[in-house]
Amino acid sequence: MKHQSILLGVNIDHVATLRQMRHMSYPDPVEAASAAEKSGADGITVHLREDRRHIQEYDVERIQKIISTRLNLEMAVVEPMLKFAEKICPVHCCFVPEKREELTTEGGLDVISEEGRIRDACQRLMAKGLHVSLFVDPDLRQIEAALRCNASIIEIHTGSYAEAKTTKERDEELQRIMKAAQFAKQAGLMVNAGHGLNYQNVQSIARIPEINELNIGHGIIARAVFIGLENAVREMKHLMVEARA
Ligand code: PXP
Repeated sequence: MKHQSILLGVNIDHVATLRQMRHMSYPDPVEAASAAEKSGADGITVHLREDRRHIQEYDVERIQKIISTRLNLEMAVVEPMLKFAEKICPVHCCFVPEKREELTTEGGLDVISEEGRIRDACQRLMAKGLHVSLFVDPDLRQIEAALRCNASIIEIHTGSYAEAKTTKERDEELQRIMKAAQFAKQAGLMVNAGHGLNYQNVQSIARIPEINELNIGHGIIARAVFIGLENAVREMKHLMVEARA
């Protein structure tokens, strides 16, 4: 049986992290977006964090102008970010939880506790024609809450799978992700996944037939240091497609 293809969204935040370390003009995430697209990326993902530690507003605007695929803007559910998204209208918007002190996103949104606020935010951006995705843990109750918010897409947080210390723990996390993906797809949601994926752990996730797209950043940028960004994107896409074949 031929499986549906799987898409790769390349998160280029860490190109901007490197630039911001010195407050210089390079490396330029715009150049990275273009190189990623040339090598098979199906979309470009950026996380405009509240502390602006990597991607800046002007990056998002410049990237949006030059890409030929689509922009996925990850952001916290806060007023300034909602205003920014309404102004620039990326194709996709992914709501993520955000804590200032975290090194990276640490888990999925607690949609259940913040249902009213998240539902209103989804409605606002969907009214502008954006596709809104909610970043959630592989937890069926959170997915049910995402459905009540009228989101059309979820991105399943794969961080616990990626950080599992033992094979048993990893297999359990994989089972949770598979179950969550099946449940969400059956309920009519589009299912994406991401966080902590790299060249060693991506194939088990890419093999899950319900998953439409993987968003991958750190693993690809880290590999790019040694083999260049275009090769790093090509290698990742190849592994994903091979797993799905
Ligand atoms: N998806 C979401 C929602 C994220 O917040 C991030 C990190 O910004 C990623 C995917 C990419 O994670 P990683 O950099 O670990 O590949």
